[in-house]
Amino acid sequence: MIQKEELHNVIVVGAQWGDEGKAKVVDMLAEQADVVIRSQGGCNAGHTVKFNGETFKFHHLPSGLLYPEKWCIIGSGVVIAPEVLKKELEDIHAKGYSTENLKISERCHVTLPYHIEQDKRQELLRTANAPESKIGTTGRGIGPTYMDKVGRIGIRAGDLLEPPEVLRKQIQRIISEKGFFEQASLPYLLDVCEAYKAILAPYITDTVALLQDALAQNKRLLFEGAQGTLLDVDFGTYPYVTSSNSTAGGACTGTGVGPSKIDATLGVMKAYLTRVGEGPFPTEQSNEVGEILGERGQEFGTTTGRKRRTGWFDGVVARYGVEVNGLDGIALTKLDVLDTFAEIKIATHYQHIHTHEAYHRFPASLSVLADLEPVYETLEGWQSDTTQITQYEDLPPACKAYLKRLEEVSHCPVWMVSVGPERQQTMMRKNVFNPTVAV
Ligand code: GDP
Ligand code: IMO
Ligand code: MG
Repeated sequence: MIQKEELHNVIVVGAQWGDEGKAKVVDMLAEQADVVIRSQGGCNAGHTVKFNGETFKFHHLPSGLLYPEKWCIIGSGVVIAPEVLKKELEDIHAKGYSTENLKISERCHVTLPYHIEQDKRQELLRTANAPESKIGTTGRGIGPTYMDKVGRIGIRAGDLLEPPEVLRKQIQRIISEKGFFEQASLPYLLDVCEAYKAILAPYITDTVALLQDALAQNKRLLFEGAQGTLLDVDFGTYPYVTSSNSTAGGACTGTGVGPSKIDATLGVMKAYLTRVGEGPFPTEQSNEVGEILGERGQEFGTTTGRKRRTGWFDGVVARYGVEVNGLDGIALTKLDVLDTFAEIKIATHYQHIHTHEAYHRFPASLSVLADLEPVYETLEGWQSDTTQITQYEDLPPACKAYLKRLEEVSHCPVWMVSVGPERQQTMMRKNVFNPTVAV
């Protein structure tokens, strides 16, 4: 329960399968924050912000970057692909934005060319051996980079700044353990590291110290999650997940800010559901409804351009997200995508196809999940344009009824409603940094 009058440190986390509209929400809230921080994932993330008629697609960069005075931090839990970051920096500079306030943790692990190779090779093997075991990764080397981090044979951004003989020794040790990779020759890797150092060096710093100083100065920290709860390596639909903790806890482990410093956690949910890549998706609509959702929602991946799978809002997924993230509020996005439907469905729980037993919680076992089917409630659609509405009270009654039911099913209040990609297409029901003050 939120008690403090003014909140300083807020986590924004994806509460479904990613692409919930986290960047839009972060961009909105960043106006009131001092520091915007990414804490996990890497360039598998594709975060879109629409501002002043321009579209920005961020992969590593925090979505606070469009405010020149905010600090933007890439925390220690993020993995960095320097070549992708370089392109991202060039793009944002070309649009006239500065990255002077960008800081990258010296503890971030770096994706090397062989990580990308390994990611692609593993996907090919999975496809060849058993097509259903393919994960549908983004091919950005995310899994292998995290594997080497945990295996203690990774290279961190700060390692690139070590004296050449220190880095050489580290690479030699890595090669001795990873010798089977043809690309991992010492001269080649030294060259790669040199090139990566040139890209990263201007930004590398001790972000733990920076964040602790910011906390001491009572600055407002806004944590920008990547991916989503059901893609979390511990809580997602394993093995169809990413390789980091994309739930709220990742904001702490990936930055060095302790859990007691967090004041609120906001979960971003779409008013329906999408998933990109393989893996279970109980409320998926592989039919005309799914086509309409995909078309109206323009559901194509920001990073890979792949068509996203679509389905109805799933209350079991929502409650699970509320629980494992400890959500205080929901930021509900893409409500406008439902504007044309005569009827809208919400799954309230699952039912076993043989025993008819009711399941109210999301199971860990995918074979159990495969035997469950969603039980839907059908709500009346509002069939009118919501994209120009700026006050919650002005939403059509059927739309408000949908939101009310969604709150009940999710066990969490909706704090923010988004009806379009632009900043002004947002209704605030709570002042996130100051919940006791009316909006
Ligand atoms: P993220 O990865 O969670 O930041 O989300 P993405 O950027 O991958 O995907 C969300 C997409 O939906 C982006 O193209 C946004 O511009 C767009 N978007 C965000 N909020 C809304 C909304 O309320 N309505 C509509 N129609 N589009 C939205
Ligand atoms: P944002 O931050 C949606 C999915 C991939 C694949 C699985 C594993 O934009 O919400 P990986 O390359 O991470 O090993 O792929 O995770 N995935 C995402 N899906 N949004 C994302 O990020 C994703 N990042 C990874 O499609 O199914
Ligand atoms: Mg995305």
